[in-house]
Amino acid sequence: MHAITIPEPGGPEALVWAEVPDPVPGEGEVLVEVAAGAVNRADVLQRQGFYDPPPGTSPYPGLECAGRITALGPGVAGWSVGDEVCALLVGGGYAQRVAVPAAQLLPVPKGVDLATAAALPEVACTVWSNIFMIAHLRPGETLLVHGGASGIGTMAIQLAKAVGAKVAVTAGSPEKLARCAELGADVLIDYRTQDFVEELRAATDGAGADVILDIMGAKYLDRNIRALAVNGRLVVIGLQGGVKGELNLGALLAKRAAVMATTLRARPLQEKAAIVAAVREHVWPLVEGGTVRPVVDRTLLMQEAAEAHRVLESGAHVGKILLLAP
Ligand SMILES: NC(=O)c1ccc[n+]([C@@H]2O[C@H](COP(=O)([O-])OP(=O)(O)OC[C@H]3O[C@@H](n4cnc5c(N)ncnc54)[C@H](OP(=O)(O)O)[C@@H]3O)[C@@H](O)[C@H]2O)c1
Repeated sequence: MHAITIPEPGGPEALVWAEVPDPVPGEGEVLVEVAAGAVNRADVLQRQGFYDPPPGTSPYPGLECAGRITALGPGVAGWSVGDEVCALLVGGGYAQRVAVPAAQLLPVPKGVDLATAAALPEVACTVWSNIFMIAHLRPGETLLVHGGASGIGTMAIQLAKAVGAKVAVTAGSPEKLARCAELGADVLIDYRTQDFVEELRAATDGAGADVILDIMGAKYLDRNIRALAVNGRLVVIGLQGGVKGELNLGALLAKRAAVMATTLRARPLQEKAAIVAAVREHVWPLVEGGTVRPVVDRTLLMQEAAEAHRVLESGAHVGKILLLAP
């Protein structure tokens, strides 16, 4: 088969479409003929040499895909050859075939075409696990999503609105904020021209956010704590603004607030299985009912992965970029 390989870490040109050995499904795994993969921020870090795949996993980038099952490894039940699926991956989604633990498969939701389903697993699993399983966002609470127009942000807005939360977002342009509003965001904050702490206070009668989904890390740590409501929960899932910050424990203590940080890729199989099962139970009905839709910015060929990374890094996109397998 062919896959996008990374012979040497570097810029987008480091991504090379090359012939590689076919994967073989192991115990509890299925082989998926990939129709499409999707691009995630983590793929850029992997390409740059800053986010190596866990030992023993596929060396190729790609944390999600959609396609058809073509073979079952030993011990797989509940799935058949020919099933159309999408999957949460540890890697290997930028390829024509990938071996996937059966516990990380989801059926293609009704009403979503096969390739578009590749836009769902990573954002659905990340957002559901962090906002609902970890931070326990409740109806009527306020969620602040940083980077509302990102792949993650577009899913977070829709899911939080679907459960009856109020949603505030930050983004870097009026155009992106307008897209967030179309998805349901109630409070729109341009982080280039506005102070999100002040804007959030103004929009919540001074209360602040009950939950913050953060992708900036150190750069926003202090402001995020200030933006939290009493009993607030800050969940850090991205470190685009650095890894080391100063935490004001006094402010945290006074608010009886919590700071959590997680990454999905490194979680053990049984934790991923629990997240995938929860997504199937809670998110899939919303997708099939049309309340939550995949947001696809553009679709390129998998051989054009370098161009896809250029777009992602330029920040020109809203939502997800798909890579169609040849
Ligand atoms: N921990 C996990 O398990 C996990 C899983 C998936 C994703 N993530 C993280 O989630 C983040 C989003 O991932 P993605 O794949 O959806 O990436 P993406 O679509 O490329 O989104 C990146 C976003 O960052 C926003 N951004 C940049 N500077 C900002 C600032 N100062 N304030 C607010 N937003 C800012 C950009 O918004 P503008 O263009 O408007 O500036 C852009 O929408 C990444 O940091 C990624 O590493 C973590």
